[in-house]
Amino acid sequence: MVSFLSKGVFITILFAAVTSINAQKLHVAVYYESLCGDSIRFITNQLNPAYDDLKDYIEILFVPFGKSWRNGGETFICQHGPEECAGNMVQSCTLNALNGPMNGNPDGSMAYVACQMAPGAEQSGRVCAEKVGIDFGFVSQCVNGGLGQQLQYGAEKATHEIAYPYPRFVPTIVYNRRFDQKLQNRSLSDFVGVVCELIRNQAPVCSRR
Ligand SMILES: *[C@@H]1O[C@H](CO)[C@@H](O)[C@H](O)[C@H]1NC(C)=O
Repeated sequence: MVSFLSKGVFITILFAAVTSINAQKLHVAVYYESLCGDSIRFITNQLNPAYDDLKDYIEILFVPFGKSWRNGGETFICQHGPEECAGNMVQSCTLNALNGPMNGNPDGSMAYVACQMAPGAEQSGRVCAEKVGIDFGFVSQCVNGGLGQQLQYGAEKATHEIAYPYPRFVPTIVYNRRFDQKLQNRSLSDFVGVVCELIRNQAPVCSRR
């Protein structure tokens, strides 16, 4: 009787643990940079088209920083020049406005990044910010008032947690906070396939493929 009971308790605990793991979304961090062709391609051809099918199963962290670095000082140097640094900061500011402490907005974040990373996107950031309901005045104030710089320091720190001094490849995609080179490689051409594998095919789109 005692052993029967303890087995029952064990199974209950195990079941609770499995249920809570299933309820947790797959964390997908996207480390990218504003003027990078490979980032534009990944977001436009892989991530954004898959978003609606996968959004109930994943939570995306966008980190617009890429291979930016600091030459000892306070300002950044970017792979594709100063326009890219400006673009990264505009995206940090708009994403911050969308995801302030009181208003996490994952759908708005995806829509914004898809707009801003579309080929030929308007580069001041006004058009895409306004498209997702963010007043461009807030973005300008963030860029010019020092908050943008702080947000880019945060993006730098987040990037350095997965790759130091910078990612070997941009975009870098990290699942559940652990870089895996094989998943990285496959993600660039089959993002849905990688996510389906990691969520054990729980999303309907996984069985339709
Ligand atoms: C990932 O892709 C790179 C570049 O194409 C290649 O050199 C590397 O061997 C690949 N790594 C793995 C683990 O597939």
